[in-house]
Amino acid sequence: MSTAGIHAGWSAATDCHGALTPPVYSASAYAQTSHATLKARFERREQGFAYARSGNPTTAVLEERITALEGGTAAIAVASGQSATTIALCALAAPGGHVVASSLLYGGTTEFLDDTLADLGVTCTVVDPWDLRAWEEAFTADTRAAIVESIANPGAQLVDLEALSAIAHARDVPVVVDSTLASPALYRPGEHGADVVVHSATKYLCGHGTTIAGLIVDTGRFDPRRCPERWERLTTPNRRFGVTFADEYERGGSGLLAYARAKYVTDFGTTLPAASAQQILVGIETLDLRVRKISADAAVLAAELHGLPGVAAVHHPTIPGRPDAHLAARDFPHGTSGVFSLELEGGEGAAAAFCDALTLWTIAVNIGDARSLVCHPATTTHCHLTDAQREACGVGPGTVRLSVGLEDRADLRADLERGLAAAREAAEVLAAA
Ligand SMILES: Cc1ncc(COP(=O)(O)O)c(C=O)c1O
Repeated sequence: MSTAGIHAGWSAATDCHGALTPPVYSASAYAQTSHATLKARFERREQGFAYARSGNPTTAVLEERITALEGGTAAIAVASGQSATTIALCALAAPGGHVVASSLLYGGTTEFLDDTLADLGVTCTVVDPWDLRAWEEAFTADTRAAIVESIANPGAQLVDLEALSAIAHARDVPVVVDSTLASPALYRPGEHGADVVVHSATKYLCGHGTTIAGLIVDTGRFDPRRCPERWERLTTPNRRFGVTFADEYERGGSGLLAYARAKYVTDFGTTLPAASAQQILVGIETLDLRVRKISADAAVLAAELHGLPGVAAVHHPTIPGRPDAHLAARDFPHGTSGVFSLELEGGEGAAAAFCDALTLWTIAVNIGDARSLVCHPATTTHCHLTDAQREACGVGPGTVRLSVGLEDRADLRADLERGLAAAREAAEVLAAA
């Protein structure tokens, strides 16, 4: 992991100046040696760069690196984690398909499923991923994809991906796993049954809160040729592009991602800029180190906060009584990321007092930064959801999400004590009012 994180996709020997790190190719278009070359690229008979909306050499290095880190066959880098999910699900299920979705998803994904994907005629059944029977019963003849998070945001719930995938695969349905919180340093979904992995690279892969980016990886399990009528858009000649995308599998690539890039990345224009790709590549170089330290510190802080006055619950897989504790032990030997949440007594008033009293933790709606961050999901990341949707993913009025950074753990703990004292005071005032 550490070696691939530094070397995969780039060799200084291939650069004309011997640049040790991949340069930022910030060109909108690429000069061609002849008319015939450009024509061949547009006809998809020849690989290569033509116009940067379809990709650029810096982004290509990132795609190769994440493919190696996830042990996949191909990847596409896009403008954000949100566009990674959007494009993956559109490529599989639009128009008119059906998606089985975990109830434990990032708020933005739930909103997309509920609203924009529904506009494209894609219906969705939302299921508790810990209820395997409900998961099984949710599949219909029209189901084209299932989606789960390997570590859910913000409650850090884990899923039994082997079991969920087996159910989906028995119906020839590919499983998309949002592995943003885990990153390949903690978990490789392809080894547990995932067909497609999506990342908000904005988070741990970047690691320093500088850049928005998304990635889609094909793990090499999904083959639409097994069910050609269901995946006609991949298995028959495409009128617009003049190719059969499934032919990519013969070349060891991904028909699904070739289709997603040609159609959705091009049409939606959600290309990742070269400068952003370079920021993510730099972040990945230290991914393994950062994520292991952060995960270990988060587990210690979660245990220390558990049972403190004013804390009704700590949502972290290692807290006694969590139904996914066995999954943490079985599948996450290096930890479960720096994200977890607290349930404060006193609801939103206590949560607000807690956040406002912190001096080291910053109030911000990001995770996976080098800086420790805190937010109140019910009024921010999950504010457009219904009460029932919030409840289903474990977000209540007193929930605060913590994203542990790289600071000294004792300093973080001392600041949390300050926040808890303020939260207790606010809860008392509210109770007396
Ligand atoms: C689990 C998860 N997936 C996807 C996203 C969306 O990513 P981005 O903000 O890069 O679009 C987020 C953002 O917070 C997230 O936490």
